[in-house]
Amino acid sequence: MLQGVCVLLLAASALSHLDEAFLDSQWEEWKITHRREYNGLDEEGIRRAIWEKNTRMIEAHNQEAALGMHSYELGMNHLGDMTSEEVSEKMTGLQVPMNSERSFTSPDHTVSKLPKSIDYRKKGMVTAVKDQGSCGSCWAFSSAGALEGQLAKTTGKLLDLSPQNLVDCVTENNGCGGGYMTNAFKYVQENEGIDSDEAYPYAGEDQPCRYNSSGRAAECKGYIEVPVGDEQALAKAVYKVGPISVGIDAALGTFQFYQKGIYYDRNCNKEDINHAVLAVGFGVNSKGMKYWIVKNSWSDKWGKQGYVLMARNRGNLCGIANLASYPIM
Ligand SMILES: *[C@@H]1O[C@H](CO)[C@@H](O)[C@H](O)[C@H]1NC(C)=O
Repeated sequence: MLQGVCVLLLAASALSHLDEAFLDSQWEEWKITHRREYNGLDEEGIRRAIWEKNTRMIEAHNQEAALGMHSYELGMNHLGDMTSEEVSEKMTGLQVPMNSERSFTSPDHTVSKLPKSIDYRKKGMVTAVKDQGSCGSCWAFSSAGALEGQLAKTTGKLLDLSPQNLVDCVTENNGCGGGYMTNAFKYVQENEGIDSDEAYPYAGEDQPCRYNSSGRAAECKGYIEVPVGDEQALAKAVYKVGPISVGIDAALGTFQFYQKGIYYDRNCNKEDINHAVLAVGFGVNSKGMKYWIVKNSWSDKWGKQGYVLMARNRGNLCGIANLASYPIM
């Protein structure tokens, strides 16, 4: 109890350096860095208040992290003037289909022994981090990423596939309004192709479908879903197959401002998955903490150059093993 009080006092005194003048200059700097312009003082006042709350939250978390209370640090980024509710509303977009009969035709990934770590970025199977913008197209980036991994694995060629092709053409999904990865894999299978990103560039808004087979860069024979909630099965799939599409709860402020270390927030809700990302590997740090290597689509300004390390084998954190799937190429 006494220890808890000391910690709180320490954190409070460390926060006091965030006085108004200091915050004013930080705010001006942040607006310039992220090229923000607001319509009048009212809007700026609202945004400034949100940014200030986020700044204090980040500072308080990092003080606790310095005391060993967290395995990860936060940092201000381009999402600084948004609430976590706004981020969830504008920049996620995973919608699990109603009454979807999930097909667990999972092949038996017989793995006698999993390696300690694997990182498909080092194997030339992961393209650069993208930015979905204010469009609920996470599912398209996650699907394209999983297809890119299999394309690299089967042909040796690493190239960007077109999330916009999926946003515009997967009729079972809702484009920027949200969608689900297996619908995208099914579309590519039935459409007999997906265009390259070069042939069908990203616009970040709903458009009419203009798939053109002359721009086709990959095909898909079907998809596999990983057994729900089974991190061991997910690890085997990652090891045997490559990058895997996963869904997570990305609604917390700690996720919004994650910067480095191994993300673990016990408030992350595995029953409330709203964001699709890509598991591109796993590993273990020097303290023996296991993690997933996860590629996000909020640009390389977010997280650790666009990635987040998420705690692995700690109760299916954020539901990472609940909605995992991958395409067959
Ligand atoms: C598809 O692309 C080819 C080559 O760029 C072009 O000649 C053709 O007109 C396009 N087809 C459609 C339907 O846009």
